[in-house]
Amino acid sequence: MQLYNNSTIEEIRELFSVTNNWIYLYNGSINPCALPVREAMENFLKDWQMNGESAIFKALNDFQLLKEEFADLIGADERNIVVTESTSTAINLAGHIIQPLSKQNIVVTELAFMSNTYPWLVGQLAVDDVRFAPSTAGVIQIENIASLVDSQTALIHLCAVTVASGYRFNMAKISNLSKFSGVPVVIDAAQAVGVVEINVKSTPVDFLAGTASKWLMGPAGIGFLYVDDKYMDAPPSSVGWFAASNVADWDVRRCNLYKDAKRFQSGIPNLIGVVGALAGIRLVKQIGPQFISDRISELTGYLIDELKKLNIEVLTPSNKNERAGVVFFKVKDPENLHKRLRNEKIYCGCFQQGIRVDPSFYTTYQELYMFMKIVKNYLKNM
Ligand SMILES: Cc1ncc(COP(=O)(O)O)c(C=O)c1O
Repeated sequence: MQLYNNSTIEEIRELFSVTNNWIYLYNGSINPCALPVREAMENFLKDWQMNGESAIFKALNDFQLLKEEFADLIGADERNIVVTESTSTAINLAGHIIQPLSKQNIVVTELAFMSNTYPWLVGQLAVDDVRFAPSTAGVIQIENIASLVDSQTALIHLCAVTVASGYRFNMAKISNLSKFSGVPVVIDAAQAVGVVEINVKSTPVDFLAGTASKWLMGPAGIGFLYVDDKYMDAPPSSVGWFAASNVADWDVRRCNLYKDAKRFQSGIPNLIGVVGALAGIRLVKQIGPQFISDRISELTGYLIDELKKLNIEVLTPSNKNERAGVVFFKVKDPENLHKRLRNEKIYCGCFQQGIRVDPSFYTTYQELYMFMKIVKNYLKNM
C-alpha cells in the first residue's frame, strides 16, 4: 500500500465500512473503526471469554508494545511514555507534574480546545491568570505567545494543530521558545500525530499529549503522554501497583516507584482499548505515514482552494506547512448547511459559527466534489 493511485485508495477503503454509509469527513473528531481494529478487539474479547486472566496477560504484552509504538511515532523512547485514558487526562497529568502555583500564569491560545484551558481555570491546577494568545484569520504568531510569557509563567500549553482553524504551529519555533524562556511547554498533539511528523528528539518539548481515537485509528479511551527525562523523579498524582518496580515482592509497606514514566501508571489499563489502539497504529504504519501525510495534505489543499474560489472565509492556511487534517471555514447559518450535508449523508462538524471538515487518506476526490456541490448550492440559494 505505497502507491498513490485510485486502485490503492479503493483497496484501502475496503477496510473502512463507514464509506458504505457516509462521506465521512470528521476524522479529526472520531476516526471510524477500521476492520483490523475491530478484529483485534473482538479477538481479545473472545480470548478473555474463553481464557480469563491469561488473556489479560497477553493484552498486557500489547500494552508494552503500544507504548513502544507511541514512542516510535514521536521519536521518543518507551521509557518516556505514559498510557492514559485520553488526551485530557494526559494534559492534566502534565499539569500535576509541573504543579503550577495559583499566583502563577499559564499561556494558552484562543484557538485551543476546551481541554487545553479548563484544567487551568477550575480545579486543583487552576491559576489566577490564564493568558490567551490572540489569533488573526486563524493564525497565531509565535511572537504573540512569547509576549505573554514572563517570570511568573508556569507553563505554555498549545495544540500542535489547532481545532478551531486547523493552523499548524512550527514545532521548531515552539521548542526554541521553551528553551530560551526556560518555561516548560505542554503540547497537545491530538490533531497532529498520525497526520504530520512530530519528533521530540529534533524539536524537544517537556510534555506531549495525544489520543488513539483520531488520526491513529484506534478506539476512544486510550491516550498517551510523553514526559521528558527531567521529570522522572516527580511524585505521581495517583499511585497504583503498576507504578512500582518492587511490586513482585508483594510488600505493602514499601513502594519503590519506577525511575521512568511507568511511575505515572496506576492500575490495569483499558485493555480492550489497548489492543484496538495497537491495531490502529499498526495500520497507520502499514499504510505508510508519509503516504497518509501527503494524501491528507493534497485533499485539504484541494478543499481550501475550492472553498476560496467561492469567496468563503477559510481560516485554515493554504500553506501546506501550516496545516494538517483539519479545514475550518465560516458561512452564514452554518447549522443549516450542516443539516443539509447530514441529509446528504455527509458527516462533518459544526461549531464556533463554522464548519469543520477533516478528510482522511481514504477520502476520494469524488466525495469532495459531492461536498463542494452541496456547499455551492447552499450559497446560491441563500
Ligand atoms: C486538539 C484536541 N485536544 C483534545 C481533544 C480531546 O481529546 P480526548 O477526548 O482524548 O481528551 C480533542 C478532541 O477533539 C482535540 O481535538
